[in-house]
Amino acid sequence: MTAVGTHFELIGGTPAVKEAVTRFYDRLLADPDLAGYFSGVDLPTLKRHQVEMISMVLGGPSNYTGRDLGTAHADLHIDATAFGKVGDHLVAVLRELGVPEHVVESVVATLTSVAPQIVTA
Ligand code: HEM
Repeated sequence: MTAVGTHFELIGGTPAVKEAVTRFYDRLLADPDLAGYFSGVDLPTLKRHQVEMISMVLGGPSNYTGRDLGTAHADLHIDATAFGKVGDHLVAVLRELGVPEHVVESVVATLTSVAPQIVTA
């Protein structure tokens, strides 16, 4: 179910999010500072990763029932620089797709709030 009036809906729902996922994925794998984190990860997990990240920051629907964020990233030794770069790519994709600036600002706030669970290095 999608809550009425979420940012997810505001930017055009599932089709827009699919486009964002594809672009985000391409950027992460093309970034030499980030590709290493994802190189050993199987494709379905990778896809799930991008979808979940985008859905979560936009308040969209989620079917994810897996490990909590801290557990999922515990062994990855993600430092603040890498986390920041992933966030920057996400923000860049949202801007490319014309997402309103107030939505981008709330995405940045959400990223900041989950960082302590993910940044462990
Ligand atoms: C808001 C930020 C983030 C969210 C919401 C998020 C979400 C998730 C979720 C839900 C999973 C579990 C996927 C699954 O097992 O199906 C996961 C795994 C993973 N995440 Fe993230 N993530 C975030 C940031 C990052 C960052 C910054 C990096 C790398 C720099 C990263 C790298 C990974 C990798 C490599 C895995 C796969 C681990 C494995 O099972 O081998 N994530 N993430």
